[in-house]
Amino acid sequence: MSLVIENLKEALNGESNAKRKYELYAQKAKEKNHPEIAHLFKAVSFAESIHIKNHLRALSVLQGSEVKINDIVTINEEELKQIVKDTISNLQDAIEGEIYETKKMYKQFEKNASSEGKDIPELSFSLARDAERVHADLFSKYLKKLKKGKSVKKQKIYVCQICGNVEFLEPPEICPICDHSKDFYKEITFD
Ligand SMILES: [Fe+2]
Ligand SMILES: [Fe+2]
Repeated sequence: MSLVIENLKEALNGESNAKRKYELYAQKAKEKNHPEIAHLFKAVSFAESIHIKNHLRALSVLQGSEVKINDIVTINEEELKQIVKDTISNLQDAIEGEIYETKKMYKQFEKNASSEGKDIPELSFSLARDAERVHADLFSKYLKKLKKGKSVKKQKIYVCQICGNVEFLEPPEICPICDHSKDFYKEITFD
Protein backbone atom coordinates (compact mmCIF):
# COMPACT_ATOMS: atom_id res chain seq x y z
CA MET A 1 0.00 0.00 0.00
CA SER A 2 1.28 3.47 -0.79
CA LEU A 3 2.47 5.43 2.20
CA VAL A 4 0.08 8.26 1.30
CA ILE A 5 -2.91 5.91 1.37
CA GLU A 6 -1.81 4.70 4.80
CA ASN A 7 -1.41 8.31 5.93
CA LEU A 8 -4.88 9.23 4.68
CA LYS A 9 -6.35 6.32 6.62
CA GLU A 10 -4.50 7.30 9.78
CA ALA A 11 -5.64 10.91 9.36
CA LEU A 12 -9.24 9.80 8.85
CA ASN A 13 -9.04 7.75 12.00
CA GLY A 14 -7.59 10.66 13.99
CA GLU A 15 -10.08 13.18 12.66
CA SER A 16 -13.09 10.94 13.23
CA ASN A 17 -12.09 10.27 16.81
CA ALA A 18 -11.38 13.95 17.43
CA LYS A 19 -14.73 14.92 15.93
CA ARG A 20 -16.65 12.58 18.24
CA LYS A 21 -14.48 13.36 21.26
CA TYR A 22 -15.15 17.08 20.87
CA GLU A 23 -18.89 16.40 20.78
CA LEU A 24 -18.51 14.61 24.11
CA TYR A 25 -16.33 17.45 25.47
CA ALA A 26 -19.03 19.91 24.35
CA GLN A 27 -21.70 17.97 26.24
CA LYS A 28 -19.53 17.93 29.36
CA ALA A 29 -18.76 21.66 29.14
CA LYS A 30 -22.46 22.40 28.79
CA GLU A 31 -23.32 20.25 31.81
CA LYS A 32 -20.70 22.14 33.82
CA ASN A 33 -22.15 25.49 32.83
CA HIS A 34 -19.55 26.50 30.25
CA PRO A 35 -21.83 26.93 27.23
CA GLU A 36 -19.29 29.12 25.37
CA ILE A 37 -16.64 26.39 25.66
CA ALA A 38 -19.23 23.87 24.50
CA HIS A 39 -19.86 26.17 21.53
CA LEU A 40 -16.17 26.14 20.57
CA PHE A 41 -15.94 22.35 20.90
CA LYS A 42 -19.02 22.05 18.69
CA ALA A 43 -17.49 24.34 16.06
CA VAL A 44 -14.14 22.54 16.03
CA SER A 45 -15.91 19.18 15.85
CA PHE A 46 -17.65 20.43 12.72
CA ALA A 47 -14.29 21.63 11.37
CA GLU A 48 -12.87 18.11 11.76
CA SER A 49 -15.77 16.83 9.66
CA ILE A 50 -14.49 19.07 6.84
CA HIS A 51 -11.07 17.42 7.08
CA ILE A 52 -12.77 14.02 6.97
CA LYS A 53 -14.64 15.03 3.81
CA ASN A 54 -11.44 16.29 2.14
CA HIS A 55 -9.37 13.23 3.08
CA LEU A 56 -12.13 10.87 1.91
CA ARG A 57 -12.25 12.62 -1.43
CA ALA A 58 -8.46 12.36 -1.74
CA LEU A 59 -8.52 8.67 -0.83
CA SER A 60 -11.34 8.00 -3.30
CA VAL A 61 -9.31 9.64 -6.08
CA LEU A 62 -6.19 7.60 -5.23
CA GLN A 63 -8.11 4.34 -5.02
CA GLY A 64 -10.26 5.06 -8.05
CA SER A 65 -13.56 4.38 -6.28
CA GLU A 66 -15.70 6.13 -3.69
CA VAL A 67 -14.58 5.41 -0.15
CA LYS A 68 -16.98 5.71 2.79
CA ILE A 69 -15.86 6.61 6.28
CA ASN A 70 -17.34 3.42 7.79
CA ASP A 71 -15.07 1.35 5.53
CA ILE A 72 -12.04 2.97 7.16
CA VAL A 73 -12.88 3.93 10.74
CA THR A 74 -14.61 2.32 13.69
CA ILE A 75 -15.26 4.59 16.64
CA ASN A 76 -14.98 3.01 20.08
CA GLU A 77 -17.60 5.04 21.92
CA GLU A 78 -16.86 3.47 25.31
CA GLU A 79 -13.15 4.24 25.03
CA LEU A 80 -13.87 7.83 24.07
CA LYS A 81 -16.29 8.31 26.96
CA GLN A 82 -13.52 7.27 29.35
CA ILE A 83 -11.30 10.05 28.04
CA VAL A 84 -13.82 12.73 29.04
CA LYS A 85 -12.76 14.50 32.25
CA ASP A 86 -13.25 18.00 33.63
CA THR A 87 -13.28 20.83 31.11
CA ILE A 88 -9.75 22.08 31.92
CA SER A 89 -8.34 18.59 31.24
CA ASN A 90 -10.50 18.23 28.14
CA LEU A 91 -9.17 21.51 26.74
CA GLN A 92 -5.59 20.44 27.54
CA ASP A 93 -6.14 17.13 25.80
CA ALA A 94 -7.63 18.89 22.77
CA ILE A 95 -4.67 21.29 22.59
CA GLU A 96 -2.17 18.41 22.74
CA GLY A 97 -4.01 16.58 19.97
CA GLU A 98 -4.17 19.62 17.73
CA ILE A 99 -0.49 20.45 18.29
CA TYR A 100 0.53 16.87 17.51
CA GLU A 101 -1.48 16.98 14.28
CA THR A 102 -0.20 20.34 13.11
CA LYS A 103 3.46 20.04 14.13
CA LYS A 104 4.09 16.34 13.59
CA MET A 105 1.48 14.26 11.85
CA TYR A 106 0.30 16.51 9.04
CA LYS A 107 3.74 18.00 8.58
CA GLN A 108 5.12 14.52 7.87
CA PHE A 109 2.09 13.43 5.81
CA GLU A 110 2.40 16.52 3.65
CA LYS A 111 6.06 15.71 2.95
CA ASN A 112 5.19 12.11 2.08
CA ALA A 113 2.45 13.20 -0.34
CA SER A 114 4.78 15.73 -1.92
CA SER A 115 7.53 13.15 -2.44
CA GLU A 116 5.04 10.72 -4.00
CA GLY A 117 3.77 13.59 -6.21
CA LYS A 118 0.22 13.21 -4.91
CA ASP A 119 -1.19 16.74 -5.12
CA ILE A 120 -4.72 16.14 -3.86
CA PRO A 121 -3.72 14.47 -0.56
CA GLU A 122 -0.94 17.02 -0.17
CA LEU A 123 -3.48 19.85 -0.32
CA SER A 124 -5.87 18.04 2.00
CA PHE A 125 -3.08 17.53 4.58
CA SER A 126 -1.87 21.09 4.19
CA LEU A 127 -5.33 22.65 4.75
CA ALA A 128 -5.87 20.43 7.79
CA ARG A 129 -2.43 21.29 9.19
CA ASP A 130 -3.13 25.03 9.01
CA ALA A 131 -6.61 24.67 10.49
CA GLU A 132 -5.37 22.52 13.39
CA ARG A 133 -2.95 25.28 14.33
CA VAL A 134 -5.89 27.67 14.62
CA HIS A 135 -7.87 25.13 16.64
CA ALA A 136 -4.95 24.73 19.08
CA ASP A 137 -4.68 28.52 19.50
CA LEU A 138 -8.40 28.97 20.14
CA PHE A 139 -8.53 26.14 22.67
CA SER A 140 -5.46 27.65 24.38
CA LYS A 141 -7.14 31.05 24.65
CA TYR A 142 -10.22 29.51 26.22
CA LEU A 143 -8.11 27.42 28.59
CA LYS A 144 -6.21 30.48 29.82
CA LYS A 145 -9.46 32.29 30.58
CA LEU A 146 -10.96 29.30 32.32
CA LYS A 147 -7.85 28.85 34.47
CA LYS A 148 -7.98 32.51 35.50
CA GLY A 149 -11.64 32.13 36.35
CA LYS A 150 -12.59 34.64 33.65
CA SER A 151 -15.72 33.99 31.68
CA VAL A 152 -15.60 33.55 27.93
CA LYS A 153 -17.91 35.87 26.03
CA LYS A 154 -20.71 34.39 24.00
CA GLN A 155 -19.81 35.19 20.40
CA LYS A 156 -20.62 34.09 16.91
CA ILE A 157 -18.42 31.31 15.54
CA TYR A 158 -17.97 30.49 11.86
CA VAL A 159 -16.25 27.52 10.21
CA CYS A 160 -14.87 27.40 6.68
CA GLN A 161 -16.43 24.46 4.88
CA ILE A 162 -13.43 24.13 2.58
CA CYS A 163 -10.57 23.97 5.09
CA GLY A 164 -12.03 23.85 8.63
CA ASN A 165 -10.69 27.23 9.70
CA VAL A 166 -12.56 28.72 12.68
CA GLU A 167 -13.31 32.44 13.03
CA PHE A 168 -15.10 34.47 15.68
CA LEU A 169 -17.62 37.32 15.23
CA GLU A 170 -17.82 37.29 11.43
CA PRO A 171 -16.35 35.35 8.53
CA PRO A 172 -13.35 36.92 6.77
CA GLU A 173 -13.88 38.22 3.22
CA ILE A 174 -11.26 35.72 2.06
CA CYS A 175 -10.36 32.65 4.11
CA PRO A 176 -6.77 33.08 5.37
CA ILE A 177 -6.12 29.36 4.94
CA CYS A 178 -7.78 28.28 1.69
CA ASP A 179 -8.48 31.61 -0.07
CA HIS A 180 -12.17 30.88 -0.57
CA SER A 181 -14.73 33.65 -0.04
CA LYS A 182 -16.79 34.18 3.09
CA ASP A 183 -19.72 32.45 1.36
CA PHE A 184 -18.09 29.15 2.27
CA TYR A 185 -18.27 29.92 6.00
CA LYS A 186 -21.05 28.41 8.04
CA GLU A 187 -22.22 29.82 11.35
CA ILE A 188 -22.22 27.25 14.13
CA THR A 189 -25.20 27.84 16.38
CA PHE A 190 -24.87 28.36 20.11
CA ASP A 191 -27.08 25.97 22.04
FE1 LIG B 1 -8.64 20.29 14.78
FE1 LIG C 1 -10.97 28.07 4.34
